[in-house]
Amino acid sequence: MFVVVGVSGGIAAYKTVHVIRALVTNGHEVHVVPTDDALRFVGTATWEAISRNPVTTSVHDDVAEVRHVALGTKADLVIVAPATANTLAKMAAGIADNLLGVTLLATTAPVVVAPAMHTAMWDHAATQANIATLRDRGVHIVGPADGALTGGDSGPGRMVEPDDIVAAALAAADAAPTPSPTGDLAGLQVVISTGGTREPIDPVRYLGNRSSGRQGVAVAVAAAERGARVTLVAAHVDDGVLGDAQRHPAVDIQRAGTAAELDTTVRAAADRADVIVMAAAVADFSVPEVSDVKIRKEDGTVTLDLVENPDILVGLVEARRPGQTVVGFAAETADTDDELRERGIRKRARKGVDLLAVNRVGWQEGFEATENTVLFVDGTDEVVSRASGSKREVADALWDAVLRLR
Ligand SMILES: Cc1cc2nc3c(=O)[nH]c(=O)nc-3n(C[C@H](O)[C@H](O)[C@H](O)COP(=O)(O)O)c2cc1C
Repeated sequence: MFVVVGVSGGIAAYKTVHVIRALVTNGHEVHVVPTDDALRFVGTATWEAISRNPVTTSVHDDVAEVRHVALGTKADLVIVAPATANTLAKMAAGIADNLLGVTLLATTAPVVVAPAMHTAMWDHAATQANIATLRDRGVHIVGPADGALTGGDSGPGRMVEPDDIVAAALAAADAAPTPSPTGDLAGLQVVISTGGTREPIDPVRYLGNRSSGRQGVAVAVAAAERGARVTLVAAHVDDGVLGDAQRHPAVDIQRAGTAAELDTTVRAAADRADVIVMAAAVADFSVPEVSDVKIRKEDGTVTLDLVENPDILVGLVEARRPGQTVVGFAAETADTDDELRERGIRKRARKGVDLLAVNRVGWQEGFEATENTVLFVDGTDEVVSRASGSKREVADALWDAVLRLR
C-alpha cells in the first residue's frame, strides 16, 4: 500500500518512528509528511532514513511533480500520529496551509488519527467539537490512551502505542471499499520503461540518445486511463513530458539513469507485472572506464573503448513468468516500408518478445516528434497491425494489440 504518515508537533512524534518502521518492514511504501513543528521534535533525517523516501513539509517543494496533491491522490491510507490539538482543529476546518493539510484535503483514502495532548487540551470543548466533526466525516480516531503524560501528571491524552496505531490503520484500510478501476485493462499490473539512458564518460559528459520519452509516457497514460496499475521507469524524461503520468494516481514513476540502473529497476518491478513494455531507448554500449576527472582538450585525440551492455529485453524474455506479456520497441532506420518490415520481423525473432512495435526513425522521424508511425509484429512473424498518428493513438493501438494477444 501507498501510506502517507502525517506527523504534527508533539513529544509523541518519536513513537511514530516505530509506526513507520513497522509499515516499511511489512512492505508498504511510506511517505512522511511532518509539520514544521513536528521537525522541532524529530528531524527530517530520521523520517527520510526510516521511510526510505524524501520528506518535505512545504507545498512549494517538487512543484513540477504536483506533490501537493500527488501524495493525497496516490495514498491508499493516511495516518496522522501524533495529531496535535492544533492539527485536529485545522483538519476539522479544512485548513490547507502546509503539505499535510493539502494532502488531507486531496485524499479519498481512509484517514486514521492518533491524538496526543495534555488532558486539559483534550477535554476542551473546542477539541471535542473538532473530534466529533472528524468522526462524522468518517475519520478514524485511535485513542488517546489514559496514562502518564509528558509533564509528569496523568490522564487521557497519551498517544496509543505504535503497534495499536498500525493495527487500527491497517484494519481501516481493509474495511474501506476499494473503487475498482474500469476499462479494458482493469486488473492488469504493467511496467513501462521510457526515455533514453545515459552512459557516463567523465563527470560532465555522457553517451546519450535523442529519445524524449513521449511515446512511453503516452503508453503509460493510456494504460492507466484504461484501468491498469502502472509502474513507469523513466530515464531522463523532462518533467514537462512526464506531466500527465505524474498526475495520474494509478502511475508510479521510478527514475533510472544508466542502462544498468534501468535494468535493475525494471527487473524489480517486472516480478509482479502482467505486461512489460520496453519503450526506453537503452544504450547498447557503455564506457567501461569512466574518467574521474574531466577529459581535457590538451589530452589530444581521445579514443573511447566501448563495451556492449547486456540486452535488457532478452533478459526480461528469459525471466518471463507464465502469462506475462513482453512488448519491445524497435527504432529502425530503413529506406522502404518493406525493409522496415523485414528488419522488424528479424528483430522480433531475435529478441523473442510477444509483440514488437517497430518505428522508423531518422533525422526528422520518430524521436522528439509528437506523431509516430508503427508496425506491430507478433510471434507469428507477421505484421498484425499498424498505427499512425499521435503518440497517444499509437499507444492505444499497442494496448489493443496486447489485448488481442492475451
Ligand atoms: C515540548 C512541547 C510538547 C508539545 N506537545 C504537544 C502535544 O503533545 N500535543 C499538542 O497538541 N500540542 C503539543 N505542543 C504544542 C504544539 O507543538 C503547538 O500547538 C504547535 O503549534 C503544533 O503545530 P502542528 O499541529 O502544526 O504540528 C507541544 C509543544 C511543546 C513545546
